[in-house]
Amino acid sequence: MIHWIGKALLKLPPETAHHQAIRLLQAYQSILRPPGFPAIHLPQIPSLNFRNRVGLAAGFDKNAEVVSAIGRLGFGFLEVGTVTPKPQFGNPLPRIWRVKPDSLVNSLGFNNCGLEQFAHNLVSRPSKIPVFANIGKGKETPNEQALEDYQLGLRHLRDKADGFVINVSSPNTPHLRGLQNAQFVEALGNILPVNRPVWLKLAPDLSNGELIALCEQIRAHTRFAGVVVTNTSRLLAEENGFAQGGFSGPALFERSLECVSVARGALGPDKVLIGVGGISSADNARKMREAGADLIEVYTAFIYQGPKVLKALVNGSL
Ligand SMILES: Cc1cc2nc3c(=O)[nH]c(=O)nc-3n(C[C@H](O)[C@H](O)[C@H](O)COP(=O)(O)O)c2cc1C
Repeated sequence: MIHWIGKALLKLPPETAHHQAIRLLQAYQSILRPPGFPAIHLPQIPSLNFRNRVGLAAGFDKNAEVVSAIGRLGFGFLEVGTVTPKPQFGNPLPRIWRVKPDSLVNSLGFNNCGLEQFAHNLVSRPSKIPVFANIGKGKETPNEQALEDYQLGLRHLRDKADGFVINVSSPNTPHLRGLQNAQFVEALGNILPVNRPVWLKLAPDLSNGELIALCEQIRAHTRFAGVVVTNTSRLLAEENGFAQGGFSGPALFERSLECVSVARGALGPDKVLIGVGGISSADNARKMREAGADLIEVYTAFIYQGPKVLKALVNGSL
């Protein structure tokens, strides 16, 4: 049944398919039954109980509307958002494209319901798996004031999320990726909560030198739990002929895997590393773990393969 629903969704325009998937998950979230996977504990964050090491990456449940359903599908954790202080429409339509046979380019630009509604959704739809809120800055906020937007997000969701991901790597918000620098990371470090793990999500289009410098800085900062690598790739979108947007899917895997390996080297053994980007098979999941990822996330392969991809990823990431 889920297989046929997935096939039907892939016949719709991408953003319509997405809205339909969210509606279906909302309708069925109370009756889905979670599969039984053994629990995982990470020594760095012992308070959190992961059902497995595979999470749903940011951008699917942008408004925290289906957190319960995602747990019941079998994911081990979930990243909701990106959320910005105020509601945003995002960039003009169309802004999601399928790249055959198994990839996506999106230029959504943080379309979301804003912090107030997002916080309400998180509280009214409790989840049995860890939920991390991915926080962004508003489209109109200049980089000089970006810290205030992140601070608003962290404060507003303080007791409502199990952890946070600071997004400085989406290619679809003007100048956002310019925040991937030592000065901003230092300023961020000073406003982070002490009672929740916080990750920094980075772009695959950084050079290895830039990635190493940022990860060494995070290694030295006790308030950062670690990093999430990677977001979508602007460079790969360009190579595929897209004047805007970020590329996701299997062609991103090789670079994301390299980023995980480079990041692990620079972070040392104690930080929590979340690997994401083009993971679509048990073998990919295993390689990410071998390269140093503690947890992995998936988005695009979930769109193309549906929930059945989970079992393979869970097995590969054990
Ligand atoms: C349609 C779409 C929307 C996304 N939105 C976000 C977002 O809001 N915030 C974010 O940090 N990443 C976002 N991402 C990036 C994913 O979280 C992930 O990092 C990226 O897609 C690479 O993983 P994948 O190849 O498994 O899709 C989005 C990706 C897609 C395809």
